[in-house]
Amino acid sequence: MRKNIVAGNWKMNNDLSQTETLLTSLKNQKQTSNAEVMVAPTFTNLWHAFEALRESNVEVVAQNMHFAENGAYTGEISASMLKSVGVQTVILGHSERRAYFNETDELLAKKVDAALANSMRVIFCFGEELADRKGDNHENVVASQIKNALFHLDAAAFKNIVLAYEPVWAIGTGETASPEQAQDMHAFIRKTLADKYGNDIAQSVSILYGGSVKPANAKEIFSKPDVDGGLIGGAALKAEDFYAIVNAF
Ligand code: 13P
Repeated sequence: MRKNIVAGNWKMNNDLSQTETLLTSLKNQKQTSNAEVMVAPTFTNLWHAFEALRESNVEVVAQNMHFAENGAYTGEISASMLKSVGVQTVILGHSERRAYFNETDELLAKKVDAALANSMRVIFCFGEELADRKGDNHENVVASQIKNALFHLDAAAFKNIVLAYEPVWAIGTGETASPEQAQDMHAFIRKTLADKYGNDIAQSVSILYGGSVKPANAKEIFSKPDVDGGLIGGAALKAEDFYAIVNAF
């Protein structure tokens, strides 16, 4: 059975003291669902978060990494550096990385390979823009993002891949995909996987939805059969809201 996962992507928010405050209130929350819980602080706070959450069941994950092992890549962080501070999972392909840092499917394929080569788990993000949705091209866009960055992998690699469908028009906008839109796309993604790798693999991969998930809408979105959890931005910055979403399962 695939896992339910709720991951909080803190993006470029929270300095050290704000991180401490949020970690403390996260530790005071009560989990009543069976979801795997993850938080992704900024690089500078990863070690601190790892130490603070060591005794909890919250996994600390990274928001990005470089594909190279080390070397002359000023400002970048490698998989082994992340692993050395306890990080086992990395978010790759976020639409903000694609839009503001020109990350292409080709580059992301290399990052995915580097993460897997270091025995890390990948939360691979993708999603269409508003114009794609309006032009009824959203399925084509999503299929090509997945194929270009992931379909060179063998089937066994998918035990370390989590997919996160994040329609760009729903990120930070307050506009959410309707539960039906999310379900339709997640079913399409699963079929795309099944066509290439077979139904067993397709059924085993968790597919998260991201884009303005809030306590008020999480339950309905998570009730859809192909939605296995959420990647949460703004609402992950408040521990109470984040756990209301974690417990929406
Ligand atoms: P919001 O929940 O703020 O829309 O952000 C979603 C997101 O980008 C998570 O990665």
